[in-house]
Amino acid sequence: MPKTKIAGIGMYVPKNVVTNDDLTRVMDTSDEWIQERTGIKERRFATRFEDTTTTMGVEAAKIAMQRAAVTTDDIDFIIFATLSPDYYFPGCGVLAQRLLGIKEVGALDIRDQCSGFIYALSVADQFIKTGMYKNILLIASETHSYGLDFSTRGRNVSVIFGDGAGAVILQPIDSSSSSASGGILSTHLHSDGSDAELLSMVNPGFHAGRFAPEKKPPEPSQPYGGLFITKELIEKDDIYPYMDGPAVFKKAVVKFPEVIMEALTANGYQPPDLNLLIPHQANLRIINATGERLGLRPDATIINIDRYGNTTAATIPLAMQTAIDQGKLNKGSLVLLASVGAGFTSGATLLRWAY
Ligand SMILES: CC(C)(COP(=O)(O)OP(=O)(O)OC[C@H]1O[C@@H](n2cnc3c(N)ncnc32)[C@H](O)[C@@H]1OP(=O)(O)O)[C@@H](O)C(=O)NCCC(=O)NCCS
Repeated sequence: MPKTKIAGIGMYVPKNVVTNDDLTRVMDTSDEWIQERTGIKERRFATRFEDTTTTMGVEAAKIAMQRAAVTTDDIDFIIFATLSPDYYFPGCGVLAQRLLGIKEVGALDIRDQCSGFIYALSVADQFIKTGMYKNILLIASETHSYGLDFSTRGRNVSVIFGDGAGAVILQPIDSSSSSASGGILSTHLHSDGSDAELLSMVNPGFHAGRFAPEKKPPEPSQPYGGLFITKELIEKDDIYPYMDGPAVFKKAVVKFPEVIMEALTANGYQPPDLNLLIPHQANLRIINATGERLGLRPDATIINIDRYGNTTAATIPLAMQTAIDQGKLNKGSLVLLASVGAGFTSGATLLRWAY
């Protein structure tokens, strides 16, 4: 079976740089608090009425296609990972297909939040290995800033997240090429829904309060409908993401090293063998704690959360681009991509960089 390689990467971040000081103008927070707790100095926010999750993803996709030397005619499948889709439905995959003018290929949306890129990569890898597709466009994009609570009440969530997009083209490796030993070695995925609501946005939604009495909407006056979104939810401001920060932190510092070690051991490697760890940029303290626990050299871990914040599904492709810009992603490098996020989900992909 052919192995899968990342043949091209593209990224797009909106032009609006929002510093921590900018946020102090709308909520009670400080640059010192945000930097100390998260490592974030600034993030990008989408240009209102202009950028969307799909449009940003499409810009990243154009660059990835150009770098992989493929055109829209070559793309035979689209995968789009996001938790902030333009529409509740249809998904961003078909909107990207329309904007890019790609022929009528399949388009799959992935909803695994911070692990979205790794989950999407694993799906693409299966399709490439079986020979079903030859050029898969994978886009990961987020527009958090349109839907966060920027009052002091929402500050523990809204200071963390930023907007941006990354895209990659996945191709089979030609077994006779000099890159034959490269590509994706394995991917490891996990989920544990027992604490799904600890990092979640449940409203608007079709849950009808089934999992938590306090989330039960009032009985509608009409016999059908009226449970997806209600005036009461909007009046109560119960339409924003929720995060129990300390609980998320505790889970992440355990799950990150676990899934990383699983990917390494499955392939007969140990942490010192790694040339590069490209982790989901959740929080600088989580990344540092993981690196220390694994005994990695500090310069073997890619960090760009200081510039972009947490862009959820997009952090890993954005960090891959940072690694390329820093000259750290070279042919033959043993690279580990890893994520932990809402769900809770986690994932790791071990690969040998193939170009
Ligand atoms: C969110 C996080 C930064 C909060 O840091 P923390 O040290 O756990 O802080 P707490 O939530 O315990 O809150 C401590 C205090 O800071 C306050 N606070 C929260 N957000 C604040 C902000 N943006 N600015 C200033 N103060 C803030 C709280 O209100 C609380 O005040 P109190 O002590 O008067 O009640 C931290 O929990 C974290 O990083 N969690 C993981 C989040 C994450 O990685 N999410 C993405 C997962 S993919």
